[in-house]
Amino acid sequence: MKRRRRLHLKKGFYILVLVIVGIIVSTILYIKHNNYIHSNPYLLKQQGYNEKEINRVIGNNNIIKVLLSREYNPYLIDILESKYYIESNLDSYIKYKTKYPDKDYADVIAIINVTNGKDFYSNEKEVDMSKGDLILVNKFYHLSEDYEPEDLVNMEVKYATSNKKIRSHVYDAFKSLVSAAKRQGIKIYANTTYRTYKAQENAHMNARNQKGSAYADKYAARPGFSEHQTGLAIDVHTSLPNEEFVESETYKWLVENASTYGFILRYPKDKEYLTGFKFEPYHLRYVGVDVAKQIEKEGITFDEYYAYYVR
Ligand code: DAL
Ligand code: ZN
Repeated sequence: MKRRRRLHLKKGFYILVLVIVGIIVSTILYIKHNNYIHSNPYLLKQQGYNEKEINRVIGNNNIIKVLLSREYNPYLIDILESKYYIESNLDSYIKYKTKYPDKDYADVIAIINVTNGKDFYSNEKEVDMSKGDLILVNKFYHLSEDYEPEDLVNMEVKYATSNKKIRSHVYDAFKSLVSAAKRQGIKIYANTTYRTYKAQENAHMNARNQKGSAYADKYAARPGFSEHQTGLAIDVHTSLPNEEFVESETYKWLVENASTYGFILRYPKDKEYLTGFKFEPYHLRYVGVDVAKQIEKEGITFDEYYAYYVR
């Protein structure tokens, strides 16, 4: 009798243990499942991302947040990981990459940042003069017809061809550059510096009369759209065609040293799709030493720099 009761108790105990273990196991499984269906990998998978894509972004909550807030898009991760990505341009990047899938991501980002996918001279805005030495004048941003810098100074013939003017602090920087070049036996002087709206109109018109408007637009800015009107730009004198000038000691010295004096080469080779102008190895733009060095280091145009760091 006693033995039977003991056996009964034992059985009851085992059942109780089994039930408890069952509850614990199913609670753990439930919690695990619940965690999983709320986890980023699961949610990303639901969104359409594959394992490779998920592994690529895992841990980057900023990117994941954007991926989960939008429909699946095969270009999204690369766009979000691009160095010069600007959040407000995201839809434009996607649209542009979808239209031109063969363009690489860096180009898509740069083109949209600079042009927003618009043609040159098709979306004109006033220059934001509050940016000081970093004002951007290009085929989207123009100066008013009557804009003239207040601190223009006359340049001595030692530094420029006759009757040239430039902004005072740019003149100081240019004089330092010229002196440093001279110490290395290189003679640099300015050919074109500040140009009025009217003078720019003539420059563009002359180019147009000689070689037609498509040509003119590649080499001369339309009036109001030239950096020369800012008093921050200098064309260094050269009597050589570009192909020969780029081989000269003068050009090599400028590439190496211009940034030390706050200047950049404003219209680099092969960047016409961003700057709107053919390679101008002689056109310097003053932006200040720190910015010039950064632009040089990053290998970007001033248009790209402005879009990402200034605007
Ligand atoms: N040649 C440069 C682009 C200008 O006309 O301003
Ligand atoms: Zn120039």
